[in-house]
Amino acid sequence: MVSIQENVSLLPFNTFGIDAKAKYFARVSSEGSFIELTQHPVFKNNKRLLLGGGSNLLFTKDFDGLVVKIELKGINIVEETDDEITLQVGAGENWHEFVRHCVQKGWGGIENLSLIPGTVGAAPMQNIGAYGVEIEKFIKNILGIEIATGQRKSFTKSECEFGYRESIFKHKAKNKYLISSVTLTLRKRNHQLNTSYGAVQDTLKEMHVDHPDIASISEAVMRIRRSKLPDPSVVGNAGSFFKNPTIHADLHDFLKKQHPSMPGYTSENGSVKIPAAWLIEQCGWKGKTFNNIGVNQHQALVLVNYGGGDGAKIFELAMKIKTSVKEKFNIDLQPEVNII
Ligand code: EPU
Repeated sequence: MVSIQENVSLLPFNTFGIDAKAKYFARVSSEGSFIELTQHPVFKNNKRLLLGGGSNLLFTKDFDGLVVKIELKGINIVEETDDEITLQVGAGENWHEFVRHCVQKGWGGIENLSLIPGTVGAAPMQNIGAYGVEIEKFIKNILGIEIATGQRKSFTKSECEFGYRESIFKHKAKNKYLISSVTLTLRKRNHQLNTSYGAVQDTLKEMHVDHPDIASISEAVMRIRRSKLPDPSVVGNAGSFFKNPTIHADLHDFLKKQHPSMPGYTSENGSVKIPAAWLIEQCGWKGKTFNNIGVNQHQALVLVNYGGGDGAKIFELAMKIKTSVKEKFNIDLQPEVNII
């Protein structure tokens, strides 16, 4: 029997450290207990929020419905050859612990995604990515349960409609499925290492690593993240608050004349991705604090809660940042975190 609690503080369940309350709260640790929960009147009669690690959302008010904490665990080997291993991983597993487990076993691919907060089930929703690697490359399929029917559904990789910080689970399939497990294929040998990022190369040099492997790359990525990104267990945050915007080549040419130092990465179709952190820094926000909230001093894309911060105030700050970037550069920033 799944127990449903009332008026529960969500403070321990979101990395922004916002003390919002859930009207109802339940935990599920198996597909069966989730299906059972979907039959409960509280589930049927209220709006719901399925919660993984709470590392990519901002509560701007109390949640007037049912919050379901996903705690399905397990790492199972589905298939194994001399070269590859396919693993089915419970949605509630901690992402970074899973990465460390794979690195220790010598299973390569996701080492560049070390230290990303959150759970395995939430990772494909926004197609987590860092240091030249996105999770989509390793996904074989995703198992979900359709909330309306309680039926199991398998999504192939192409059905997931992955893009930059995008998937079907943020669009057509939003709020319709519980992701119960993620199946990934990793390499056991002949690892395809990705050291394309300058920061990764520089850190490996500092570590005196001449011949990188998946363990040293994981270590390098952890060092970079620890030096740039605030630890959510110390300072509340949800990583990058906005996505890096993609702009038309014409706007890029125009802006580049006014701001010759503007960084940008041109894609195959000619559009240009601009680091949102640079735009925000140019507007003067980097390191600014407003009472107990602010903009991180090392990474301008990260908004922070120094303790006791109000989610609505953080959202207000984000909107002021968005407006100033629009006014100065005519570029629209879109939040990367889910605003609840
Ligand atoms: N920059 C600034 N000011 C800053 C920080 C960065 O001007 O305060 C400029 C620099 O030109 C720098 C560039 O922005 O070279 C890129 O910075 P960084 O390498 O830190 O990456 P990012 O584009 O800001 C993205 C992801 C991160 C991911 C890193 C590393 C998004 C929205 N964010 O950040 O992901 O860790 O690349 O690959 O794509 C997250 O999604 O929560 C996240 C942390």
